Amino acid sequence: MKITSSNLQAIAVEPKGYPEDELSEIAFVGRSNVGKSSFINSMINRKNLARTSGKPGKTRTINFYIINESFRFVDLPGYGYAKVSKSEQEKWRGIIEKYLSTRENLKEVVLIVDIRHSPTMQDVMMYNWIRSFGYDGIVVATKADKISKGIMQKNIKVIKEKLGVEDKNLIIPYSAVNKTNVENTWTIFEPLI
Ligand code: GTP
Ligand code: MG
Repeated sequence: MKITSSNLQAIAVEPKGYPEDELSEIAFVGRSNVGKSSFINSMINRKNLARTSGKPGKTRTINFYIINESFRFVDLPGYGYAKVSKSEQEKWRGIIEKYLSTRENLKEVVLIVDIRHSPTMQDVMMYNWIRSFGYDGIVVATKADKISKGIMQKNIKVIKEKLGVEDKNLIIPYSAVNKTNVENTWTIFEPLI
């Protein structure tokens, strides 16, 4: 995919802040600090358009990035960060759920997991939700630069079994640092947008 432009179009916490056009959106969900914002940056070749941090809880709003003036990537707050207060976590959960369950522009919800770790209960719940809403169930297993090729296949098997992913090809090993599988991921996304 040739990226000609990418911009932060809107920041929202409720539907009245969402962009009002008909453009298709792909949203990214996953645990706090898993690498959602870094994934977006690496796909569109921008260093820090989506703000990232070594500390969990960086993204706290729904951020709409418009790409090539023709579709959007949507960055969401992460879940499962224990140091965020219960009330704050509930607030984020409300923001995410409202968006995912009402947004007509939404064409795919992609789960991002850390390739080093077995998915958590919250990942499993999120994946089940994604599947039950009829989305394909694409999983990006990121931070692949942190493990060896041999471990990679083993971990992908664990992710597949734990989440109940139907087809191994739906799990994409990825690295925002090394740009592993950027083009393959675009090939999967292109028909969706
Ligand atoms: P929240 O907004 O807090 O939910 O986090 P996030 O999921 O958006 O994660 P973010 O992109 O901010 O990345 C978290 C940390 O992981 C940062 O320190 C990134 O540099 C690091 N990181 C993200 N992707 C990769 C990757 O592919 N490889 C490596 N080595 N580090 C990564
Ligand atoms: Mg983020």
